[in-house]
Amino acid sequence: MFKTKKLVAVDIGSSAVKVVQLGGYPASTAIEKFAMAAIPVGSIENGIVVDASAIMTVLKTVVSKLGIKGRRAAISVSGSGVMLKKIKVSRTMDANFDEQILGEAAKSFQLDLSEMYFDYAEMGQSFGTTSDVDVLLLGARREVIEQYVSIVKGAGLEIGVMESGAISVANMFELNYGTVEGLIMIVSIGASHLQVGFVEHGRFLFSQEMPIGGDQYTTSIMQGMNLPREAAEALKIGISSNPAAVTPELTRMMAETSTLISNDIRQCISFFRSSPEGDDVGPLKYCFLTGGASRTVHLDSAIAAAIQVPVHFVNPFQKVEIKTKDLRLEQIGTISSMVSCAVGLGLRLKNDKVAV
Ligand SMILES: Nc1ncnc2c1ncn2[C@@H]1O[C@H](COP(=O)(O)OP(=O)(O)OP(=O)(O)O)[C@@H](O)[C@H]1O
Ligand SMILES: [Mg+2]
Repeated sequence: MFKTKKLVAVDIGSSAVKVVQLGGYPASTAIEKFAMAAIPVGSIENGIVVDASAIMTVLKTVVSKLGIKGRRAAISVSGSGVMLKKIKVSRTMDANFDEQILGEAAKSFQLDLSEMYFDYAEMGQSFGTTSDVDVLLLGARREVIEQYVSIVKGAGLEIGVMESGAISVANMFELNYGTVEGLIMIVSIGASHLQVGFVEHGRFLFSQEMPIGGDQYTTSIMQGMNLPREAAEALKIGISSNPAAVTPELTRMMAETSTLISNDIRQCISFFRSSPEGDDVGPLKYCFLTGGASRTVHLDSAIAAAIQVPVHFVNPFQKVEIKTKDLRLEQIGTISSMVSCAVGLGLRLKNDKVAV
């Protein structure tokens, strides 16, 4: 069988950089290289890179440690400068496909296309038609993309493809759990933002982001208990595996953020329902959670109560073999939710087209 090597996945999050090299083929995917390294607090704010050189320094160290200099990378992009939109495009003989994509991109992003980088992926025939296909458009402001490109190149890697974080997470999900019947949502809650993706029978329909994440809990604990950042962060993470240690004071401090996050997720569902993509799909069957902050104590039950849908955690290693000493077995439980995006991104192949 013809084998194509996978790209090195680089997920630059606002709290840490994750780098994953996958090997193997769908039935036997394995992690061959792995690194995760914290980036200085404040290097990315509101999804915008404010200290590119600090991130580059961290990534450079990781690249040299893993011995992957010069390799091509798949990069995840997310945040306020990135937009994802599903459109319908006619595939009839007399319709120019590329022109339709350009026209739809100009309409969807409402920005001068010269200020944007955009890419698209065909997703198959549109429901109920024979001549239309669904196309997923990814658009991002050029300055946002250029920053990611300069960080990754500066750290010694070549650019392969860019992918929206919501798509990477959906691909990670399918790799591990296959196609789930009906409508599901996958919610990824990071340090500074959350991403919601809706998937119906394996078809990605819609995604939305909200600027809230785990940092907000840390800030509440810092302010409420007058603690330095590191101590507040350690306390927050410690109680996630020991709920008995949660004092009434901590519960009160953290409840406000859990309510905000749960309400934002509920709002994403309403928004999806009022969009053309969410109009004609059946009931929401499950909500799957991932992202580091999804592990916050009692957050899963707060979300389940707010949206009235069963909530489950995702294991990005469910069907992924660990074939590297970079990742020790005892680490897996604590870091798994933080690497979901990188695992999905690592599925991109070396012969996928170069997007930048
Ligand atoms: N066990 C845990 N309990 C609670 N919070 C946790 C736990 N582990 C990690 N976190 C939080 O998860 C966040 C990091 O998660 P993740 O790596 O998914 O975010 P990121 O990719 O850096 O951020 P973003 O995607 O928002 O830019 C931090 O806020 C961290 O405090
Ligand atoms: Mg992230």
